[in-house]
Amino acid sequence: MTVTHRVAVRPSGAEIDVRDGEDLFGAAGRLGYRWPTVCGGKGTCRTCFVQVEEGAENCSPMDPLEREGIEALRRPVDGLTRLACRLRVEGPVTVTKRGVRRRVQE
Ligand code: FES
Repeated sequence: MTVTHRVAVRPSGAEIDVRDGEDLFGAAGRLGYRWPTVCGGKGTCRTCFVQVEEGAENCSPMDPLEREGIEALRRPVDGLTRLACRLRVEGPVTVTKRGVRRRVQE
C-alpha cells in the first residue's frame, strides 16, 4: 500500500495526497493540479515556492539547491519558505500558494 500525507493548500483549498518520497509539485501534477512553474520542477525557477503555515516538522530537510533558491528569493532560510518541487513530507502540512488550480478537463 502506498503511504500518502495530506498537504492542504491555501487559499484554493486544494488537498494533495503526497506519496512517500514524492515532492509536492510532482504530486500536484499527478493529481491534476496546475502549480506555478517555469522550470517544470527542476529546482531552478523558484516560481513554485510556498509558505509553510503548519506542519513544518513534517517537511524534509532542505538540500543545497533549495537553500540557494530560497536565498535568491531573499527570503529567510528558516524552513518556512520552501520550493514545492524539492519538498517532501512525512505528515500533514498546510501551505499557502496562490495560483494552484485544477487543470481544466478537455
Ligand atoms: S518548479 Fe521551478 S524551482 Fe520548483
